[in-house]
Amino acid sequence: MDKMNIDAGMPIALTLDPGIYFRCTCGRSQNLPFCDESHHASGSLPIRFEIRERKKIYLCSCGKSAQAPYCDGCCGVSLP
Ligand code: FES
Ligand code: FES
Repeated sequence: MDKMNIDAGMPIALTLDPGIYFRCTCGRSQNLPFCDESHHASGSLPIRFEIRERKKIYLCSCGKSAQAPYCDGCCGVSLP
């Protein structure tokens, strides 16, 4: 995750429907925080994750989470 978009350095709160998602780690996507396949020349790969029921999630944008693509709070933000 060391090449991911770190513009904000804060978790990204999203409410997602059930499905398979791909978190961009290269920062080149025009559809951040999701991968749009723009990573091909970057050497980065997206992180696949699955949502089984509609819920609010917090995606890591600092690149330090041990639970990527989810924020684990090591950025200093307390999650609800
Ligand atoms: S566009 Fe960034 S990982 Fe795919
Ligand atoms: S945004 Fe990366 S751990 Fe919180």
